[in-house]
Amino acid sequence: MRTPSTPLVLLLITVVKVTGKVFPFESVQLTESETTDFRAVAFGNTEAAPPWSSITQRCRAWPGSRAWPSESDWEQLNITLGGSLLRPLPAASACYQGESYNQTTCEWLINQSSRTHFWIDEPLSTLTQWPQGSTCPLTLDPPGTCTKGGFPEYVVNATTVKHVQAAVNFARNKNVRLVIKNTGHDFGGRSMGAGSLSIWVHNLKDFEFIPEYNVGRYSGMAVQVGAGVESWEHFNHMAANNITVVAPGGGTVGAVGGWVTVAGHGSLTSKYGLGADQVLSINVVTADGQFLTVDPNTHKDLWWALRGGGPSTFGVITSVVLKAYPPISTIRSSLAFTVDPSLNDTRPPQDPNALTNLTSFWYGVSLAYHYCPKIIGAGGYCFSYITPLGGSSFRFTSSQIVPDISSSDYTALLQPLYAELNTVHRIPVGAPPANTRPTLYAGDGRRTGAGDFPVNTRYRSRLFPASLWDNPDQAAWAATFAAIRAGVEEGGYTFHGIAYSPTLEKAGWPTTDNGSGSAVHPAWRTTALHGSFMEVQPEGIGAAEATVRDRKASEYLARLDAVFEEFANDAPRGAYMNEGDPAEEEWQTMFYGDKNYARLLDIKKKWDPWGVFWARTTVGGERWEVNTEDGYPMSQNGRLCRVVTKK
Ligand SMILES: Cc1cc2nc3c(=O)[nH]c(=O)nc-3n(C[C@H](O)[C@H](O)[C@H](O)COP(=O)(O)OP(=O)(O)OC[C@H]3O[C@@H](n4cnc5c(N)ncnc54)[C@H](O)[C@@H]3O)c2cc1C
Ligand SMILES: *[C@@H]1O[C@H](CO)[C@@H](O)[C@H](O)[C@H]1NC(C)=O
Ligand SMILES: *[C@@H]1O[C@H](CO)[C@@H](O)[C@H](O)[C@H]1NC(C)=O
Ligand SMILES: *[C@@H]1O[C@H](CO)[C@@H](O)[C@H](O)[C@H]1NC(C)=O
Ligand SMILES: *[C@@H]1O[C@H](CO)[C@@H](O)[C@H](O)[C@H]1NC(C)=O
Ligand SMILES: *[C@@H]1O[C@H](CO)[C@@H](O)[C@H](O)[C@H]1NC(C)=O
Ligand SMILES: *[C@@H]1O[C@H](CO)[C@@H](O)[C@H](O)[C@H]1NC(C)=O
Ligand SMILES: *[C@@H]1O[C@H](CO)[C@@H](O)[C@H](O)[C@H]1NC(C)=O
Ligand SMILES: *[C@@H]1O[C@H](CO)[C@@H](O)[C@H](O)[C@H]1NC(C)=O
Repeated sequence: MRTPSTPLVLLLITVVKVTGKVFPFESVQLTESETTDFRAVAFGNTEAAPPWSSITQRCRAWPGSRAWPSESDWEQLNITLGGSLLRPLPAASACYQGESYNQTTCEWLINQSSRTHFWIDEPLSTLTQWPQGSTCPLTLDPPGTCTKGGFPEYVVNATTVKHVQAAVNFARNKNVRLVIKNTGHDFGGRSMGAGSLSIWVHNLKDFEFIPEYNVGRYSGMAVQVGAGVESWEHFNHMAANNITVVAPGGGTVGAVGGWVTVAGHGSLTSKYGLGADQVLSINVVTADGQFLTVDPNTHKDLWWALRGGGPSTFGVITSVVLKAYPPISTIRSSLAFTVDPSLNDTRPPQDPNALTNLTSFWYGVSLAYHYCPKIIGAGGYCFSYITPLGGSSFRFTSSQIVPDISSSDYTALLQPLYAELNTVHRIPVGAPPANTRPTLYAGDGRRTGAGDFPVNTRYRSRLFPASLWDNPDQAAWAATFAAIRAGVEEGGYTFHGIAYSPTLEKAGWPTTDNGSGSAVHPAWRTTALHGSFMEVQPEGIGAAEATVRDRKASEYLARLDAVFEEFANDAPRGAYMNEGDPAEEEWQTMFYGDKNYARLLDIKKKWDPWGVFWARTTVGGERWEVNTEDGYPMSQNGRLCRVVTKK
C-alpha cells in the first residue's frame, strides 16, 4: 500500500527549494529552432572551443573590413531581436555639420548636459568621457567632424533574455567585440568599446519583494532585482515595501551591475557587509548563450566567481536575488574645517572660520581619520575628502554615519573626537551634534537620482589595512598619514577616504560558513579605509601628457604601498577596481589578489574559452589590448586585438 505521505514530502522539498526565480522577461528565451534558420545566433559549446592559449583570431572584426558581418547579417539579427537593434550616433552629432545637424537639438543637449539622467537613458553615452577618445565633444560650432570613437557600433536594447542570448551568440560566432552597458558609470571605460556590439541592460527594471526566501542557511526576506535597476529606484522600492537592502550610495549607480560583481560599498557596509555579500541567487547568460540560475547549490564555481570576480567576465547578469532586512534608521552629521595660512587681519577673509595654522590643520585631519575605527566599531562609517584649494589652503569635509543608534549614544561616540580637536589642536569645531533625529535609510520613496555629468574623475584606490590603526607603535599611523598628506600637498590630488569594515563576520552566510565563500578581494575583509587620490582627467590632453599624469599618480600610490609593506606586511594588498586606477600595473594582485586570480582564470577558461567578454583589468584581460592610433593610455578608441608575446 502506498503511504499518503510521499507526495507531501515531495511537495515540501519543492517548497523549500524556491531558488531559481525567473522574471517574466527572463522566460522569453532563444530557442534552438530559432537558431537553425540563422546560424549566426547558434549556441556555443565550451567543450568544442579552441584551446585558451591558441590564437585563431588575432583581432576582433572591424567595421568596414571583410570580416565584419554583412548588412544582411545585422538585419537578420534585428529580426531575431524583434527590432531592438539600434545603430545610434553619438548624441552630440546634432552639433556637427552633416545629416544629423540640428542647432535646436544641439542647444538643448548643452542645456541638458549636466542632467545625468539624460545620459543614462542614452544608449551609447557613459558618464566617464575620456576613454571614448573625445571624437565628438558636445559644443556649439565644433571644429571637425563627429565620429564614434570608443562608442559601440550597434546596441541591443535588451528587454528579454532572448535579446541577451542572441547578442552573445552573434558576437561569439561572428568574432565581433562585445560590451555590456548598464548605467555607464564605470570610471575606466569598461562599458564601451570601438567597433563593438553593446548589450544595454538599462531597461531591465523589474523588481519583486519576496517576503520569505529560503536557500541554504538563509531564511528571510529578499528582493529580486533586474539588471537595470539604479540605486535611487532601489531606495524607492525599499520605502514602498518597508524594508532595507544594501545599496550603492551614489543614486544613479546600478544596484546589481558593476557594483555587485566587484564588491560594492554603501552606508551599511560596516553593518551588513558588501554588495556582493547580499547575493542569494543570480540569473545570467553565459558566453555560450545559455541562461542559467547560479546559487549556492548550482554551478558552484560561477557562484563563487560572479560575486567579486569582476564585471563583464563570466556572463551577462539579468537579475539577482538579494537579502532584505527590516527598516533601519541612521544618524549622520558632518564635520569640516579649512586652513588658509595667508589670512590676516587686513585682508577680507574668504572663509572667516578658516584656520591659519597649517600644522594644526593637518594634526586635526590626521586625528579625524585616526578616530574612524571607533565609528566603524559602532557599525558606522566615515566619508571624507581632503581638497586642495590652491596655495597652502586645504579643506577637510567629512560625514559620520551610524545606523541603528540612539541620539545620545551618537553624541557620546563623537564627544572625544570633538574635545580633542577643540582643546588639543585648537580647531574650533564646537560641541558634538546632539539630539540629531535618526532618518530612515530607505528615505521617503521620492528619490529622483540626480547626479552630475560628466564625471571624468580618475580614482586611484588603496584598501588601507586596519592593522595600521591597531599598531601600538604610532609610527605606523604617522607614516600612513604622511603619505596621504604628500599626495594632497605635493601631488595636488583630492584624497577621498571612506572608512568601513566589511569583515567576514558581518558578511555572514553565504560568504562564510561554507556557502562557499566569494571572489571578493580578501583585502576588503581586513581594511578600515578605502582611500583614493582623485583628480579630473582634463579634456583634450594628448597621449604623452596623459601618460605623464599616470606615472606621477603611481608614484604617490607607491608611497602608500611602501608604508603598508613596512608596517602591515601581513595584510593582503588590494584596491577597489571600481574606484581604482585603470592604469594599475599589478592589477591582477591589486584588484583580485593572487590566489583568487589564479582560480578565477581557471573558471574564465572553462566558462568563456573564447574570451567573448572582455574589459580592461577583468579576469583574462591580459590576453587582449586596444590598439589605438594615438597611444592614449586606456583609451577604448581602437581595435581589440590579442596580445602577441614576442619570442
Ligand atoms: C557618481 C558615481 C557614484 C558612485 N558611487 C558608488 C558607491 O556609492 N559605492 C560603490 O561601491 N561604487 C560607487 N561608484 C562606482 C561604481 O560602483 C562603478 O562605477 C560601477 O562599475 C558601476 O556599475 P554600473 O553597472 O552602474 O555601470 P556600467 O558602467 O554600466 O558597468 C560597469 C561594469 O559592469 C559591467 N556590467 C554592467 N552590467 C552588467 C551585467 N548585467 N552583467 C555583467 N556585467 C555587467 C559593465 O560591462 C562594466 O564593465 C560610483 C560611481 C559614480 C560614477
Ligand atoms: C531594427 O528594426 C527596427 C524595427 O523594424 C527598426 O526601427 C530599426 O531601425 C532596426 N535597426 C537597425 C539597426 O536597422
Ligand atoms: C530639430 O530638432 C527639433 C527638436 O527635436 C525639431 O522640432 C526640428 O524639426 C528639427 N529640425 C530639423 C531641421 O530637423
Ligand atoms: C538653453 O538655455 C538658454 C539659457 O538658459 C535658453 O536661452 C535657450 O532657449 C535654451 N535652449 C534650448 C534649445 O532649450
Ligand atoms: C528601448 O526599449 C524600451 C522598451 O521597449 C523603449 O521604451 C525605449 O524607448 C527603447 N530605447 C531606445 C533608445 O530605443
Ligand atoms: C515596517 O516594519 C517594521 C518592522 O519590520 C514594523 O515595526 C513597522 O510597523 C512597519 N511599518 C509599516 C508602515 O508597515
Ligand atoms: C596680508 O594682507 C596684506 C594686505 O592685503 C597682503 O599684502 C599680504 O600679502 C597678506 N599677508 C599674507 C601672509 O598673505
Ligand atoms: C600651530 O599649531 C601647532 C600644533 O598645534 C603648534 O605647535 C604651533 O605653536 C602653532 N603655531 C602658531 C603660530 O600658532
Ligand atoms: C567549502 O566547500 C567547498 C566545496 O563546496 C570546499 O572546497 C571548501 O574546502 C569548503 N571550505 C571550508 C572552509 O570548509
